[in-house]
Amino acid sequence: MICKYVFGHPMDTHAVVMEVSESKQELTLMQAEVKEDAIRLSCRMEDEDVVFGLGEQVRGMNKRGFSYISNATDDPHHTENKHSLYGVHNFLILNRAKKSEEEHKAQSFGIFVDDPGTVIFDVGETRMDELAITAGKDCVVYVVEGECLKDIVKQFRKLIGTSYIAPKWAFGYQQSRWSYMTEDEVREVVDGHHQNGIPLDAVYLDIDYMERYKDFTVNQETFPDFKNFTEEMKERGVHLVPIIDAGVKIEEGYQVYEEGVQKNYFCKDEDGEDFVAAVWPGKVHFPDVLNAEARAWFGGKYRFLMEQGIDGFWNDMNEPAIFYSEKNLKKVLEELDEMKGKNLDLYEFFHMRDLVSGLSNSAVDYQSFYHNMDGVKVRHDKVHNLYGFNMTRAAAEAFDQIAPDRRTLLFSRSSYIGMHRYGGIWTGDNNAWWSQLLLSIQQMPSLNMCGILYTGSDIGGFGSDTTEDLMMRWLEFALFTPLMRNHAAMGTRRQEVYRFERLESFRNIIRMRYGLLPYIYSEYMKAVLKDEMYFRPLAFDYPEDEQAYRVEDQLLVGESIMIAPVYVQNAKGRYVYLPEDMLMVSMRSLDDRTCKVLPKGHHYIDVAIDEVVLFVRKGYMLPLAVLDVKVRSTGDVSEEQLQWIGYTDDVAEYVLYSDDGLSRNYTPQSEWKKIRMTKEELL
Ligand code: GLC
Repeated sequence: MICKYVFGHPMDTHAVVMEVSESKQELTLMQAEVKEDAIRLSCRMEDEDVVFGLGEQVRGMNKRGFSYISNATDDPHHTENKHSLYGVHNFLILNRAKKSEEEHKAQSFGIFVDDPGTVIFDVGETRMDELAITAGKDCVVYVVEGECLKDIVKQFRKLIGTSYIAPKWAFGYQQSRWSYMTEDEVREVVDGHHQNGIPLDAVYLDIDYMERYKDFTVNQETFPDFKNFTEEMKERGVHLVPIIDAGVKIEEGYQVYEEGVQKNYFCKDEDGEDFVAAVWPGKVHFPDVLNAEARAWFGGKYRFLMEQGIDGFWNDMNEPAIFYSEKNLKKVLEELDEMKGKNLDLYEFFHMRDLVSGLSNSAVDYQSFYHNMDGVKVRHDKVHNLYGFNMTRAAAEAFDQIAPDRRTLLFSRSSYIGMHRYGGIWTGDNNAWWSQLLLSIQQMPSLNMCGILYTGSDIGGFGSDTTEDLMMRWLEFALFTPLMRNHAAMGTRRQEVYRFERLESFRNIIRMRYGLLPYIYSEYMKAVLKDEMYFRPLAFDYPEDEQAYRVEDQLLVGESIMIAPVYVQNAKGRYVYLPEDMLMVSMRSLDDRTCKVLPKGHHYIDVAIDEVVLFVRKGYMLPLAVLDVKVRSTGDVSEEQLQWIGYTDDVAEYVLYSDDGLSRNYTPQSEWKKIRMTKEELL
């Protein structure tokens, strides 16, 4: 059951696709206080209650004990003191451990606060026993009640619409770096993989493929024959995926800039002039993607690259990130000028430092530009969290025109609930730290709750130099994430896997991804088509098991398996909780597997540095593709001959979904294949 409560005069954010009429009953699960400029919703939490959700936010799967602020932010330090990251996902579930005497007030429920401005979720930080949500005075609140956690998510997902489906090649291994500077450098990376027997489906082009960071241009010196180059790569099974940034460079003669100015498609400042900010290219304007016409115009620009064979994009800096604004910089420079020659004391020095660092992503800037939302002038900070969503929507809507018959890969850095219909996300600029591997494990199910299924983190870590063992452990987890991309920042050590010493182990791990592809793809598609989660915390499948609620570092992946990744340096294994008897499968390669049944309960398991371990649930099975040594990309993975791993006392069943991986008609009956096997037939 979904109840809708409307406060003030909210705008349509397009987060929701299902018509729900306003509830006639009063909101009872939370107490609502309507203040002059805010709404405060609160309720008590018992010690054993658990809060799941909030998408990309930091900290654990159980969100209790901290405050999270919905304010899309470009922040490359995803440490536990951070209240906001790039994406804004205002949905959580309060899971009640016990029903109290006052039965109704103690129901578990999900809540989605549809407010594109700043929302604060104080999940027991101020008072450990209180959940308090503070939103703007104009917002819509949806309260979802259901039979269980899974049911609440399913209903919420119906409300917000079906998730994006990536082409199948985007489920292969992908390599990125800021930046591969030239055609030859890209060729070298592809050779590096192929010569070492490592499959590869995509190479990313970061900002330097452009001509001076201008969107929808290609640097003619470094990529002189882009169309042929794209073709050459495709022949080798590799898709090129260029980045698109939110800011459009201000430069006379640059067509995108000139058109945008002429047609009034850029965001305006207080005086009605095109707002000037600075990002990679220096000064830029932001396309007003919240305006339908401007959105269609900006989306149409992707055609330029698609006509040269491009079939995948990543949208970046779309919080939108601002290095500085023209006005703010002027003020700061004037103040710095006054400091010249002075003997700065401690406080003056700190002030100077803050002045400079405060130039980026400043609240003052976000309050100083405007959108034209179908004739209504709206100040940016009121709709800040919708920008990345609408930039991605611009692209996806254009793809419907430009390439209506096939899927295009698309994912974004910033997002809001609803964007999952248009593309996926990656979790932004993490670091090569072990703690970030754990964070990534914990972010996945929370993102899945909001329909964001095509997702993953920068494998190995984006910032800082990675280490060989971190890269290996990270891959052992990421081989299960739909987006499996190794990406690193400029200035960090090169981290393409063929550069490391234990090449054979890396090859084996990446090949495992290709072996598991039929399962990963099939489970991804089921999650999309049935509004379910691909990654789930244990409590979702074992709701009666109190211990399952405490597990923060294991995940169910699809219907058949559970994983327990190692995320601690130098660990030779880890503790695992099994909510039922399971079959532990340890793999050093696709052909080097050992299986052992472990009983329900706590175990310490050994996991060597080059080993992938997964647990098969009782009564379930999963397919493994048999790979030729020459497999180079997803296109070479055949489903003709599958092996089946399973755990049962008598028979197990699996429904395999497969399709051509490219066209957009997803559900013909013939694509669901039911397979039944006896204990003896299973591996
Ligand atoms: C941003 C992106 C990162 C990219 C870089 C340069 O930091 O998050 O992935 O490599 O910009 O474009």
